Amino acid sequence: MKKRSFSGIQPTGDIHIGNYLAAIKQWVASQAEYDNIFCIVDLHAITIPQDPKILKAKIREVSGLLFAAGIDPKLSAVFVQSQVGAHAELAWILNCFIPMGWMQRMTQFKEKSKELKEQVSVGLFDYPALMSADILLYDTEVVPVGEDQKQHVELSRDLAQRFNSIYGPTFHLPKAVIPEVGARIMGLDDPTKKMSKSEDNPGHAINLLDSPDEIRAKIKRATTDSRREIRFDEKRPGIHNLLVIYEIFSGLSRAEIEASYQGKGYAQLKKDLGEVVVEGLKPLQSRYQELTAEAGHIDSLLAEAAARVRPLAEKTLARVKSRVGLG
Ligand code: AMP
Ligand code: TRP
Repeated sequence: MKKRSFSGIQPTGDIHIGNYLAAIKQWVASQAEYDNIFCIVDLHAITIPQDPKILKAKIREVSGLLFAAGIDPKLSAVFVQSQVGAHAELAWILNCFIPMGWMQRMTQFKEKSKELKEQVSVGLFDYPALMSADILLYDTEVVPVGEDQKQHVELSRDLAQRFNSIYGPTFHLPKAVIPEVGARIMGLDDPTKKMSKSEDNPGHAINLLDSPDEIRAKIKRATTDSRREIRFDEKRPGIHNLLVIYEIFSGLSRAEIEASYQGKGYAQLKKDLGEVVVEGLKPLQSRYQELTAEAGHIDSLLAEAAARVRPLAEKTLARVKSRVGLG
């Protein structure tokens, strides 16, 4: 029996190379090793205001990008969260077992609520309960995510343990799997902030569907420092971020990269990095065009996957309801 792996991605904004390098690339690579379920988390997306037409279009776009990146619908289920009712239902039940103090410690809520001010919804605060439901419904063992989601996955593990200690063995204990390199890709405009889908500055992120010229221009403008030497050094966040992106896209080792840039300047590195990223995204971009040319294809893959995972989710939900004494 393969281990169950579950992860999610929000259908909001533009999917960028941070999402790709930390999450999607790992998901593609681990398809033979794990029994994979990937969820397009539209219920999470509405924790902040969304335009309905755009949200609907983004669900298809993100799914298409996952398939284009190499997720094989025969090996992995890619489905839309709101199409499986058990997610919202389990989230409610779990709500009643999460101490307020655990939620108040969540750093992502603190950051997002600072930006949103009076628009902060109860749903945004409750985000980790829904995420725990996602994970726990499928007896998940591993959750491949970027660094920013570690705290949420730990909350779901603590919650599973708490529930099990009250009612007896009910949930598997999930564990976050975070890549060693690229777990936190930083913004090109400000390398002290993580690359994010919701940032407005056009020079902030490289999106998976950016044209070659956009990619080259964004990298050219990326913020670095006034030093010259090209070396992996976390104390120089701008150049470090570019080098990490180069490392993953090129497949070269750090020593090889440093050796090949001895005596060369940032301009040369940026030029080469532009080409490495353009070439690295090319196959994905052309597969995406093919996939989306066929109307209804993505929708039918999503519906099939939802039908496949729904019975698994319902089985867990029934177990939980019976433990709690509901119905
Ligand atoms: P989200 O964009 O919040 O839907 O995240 C989808 C996946 O991408 C999650 O596993 C995140 O941890 C990961 N992720 C998002 N932003 C970054 C980033 N800047 N660097 C690395 N991973 C990221
Ligand atoms: N919160 C995650 C993010 O923004 C997305 C997500 C929702 C998720 N449910 C999940 C990730 C379950 C892993 C497992 O990146």
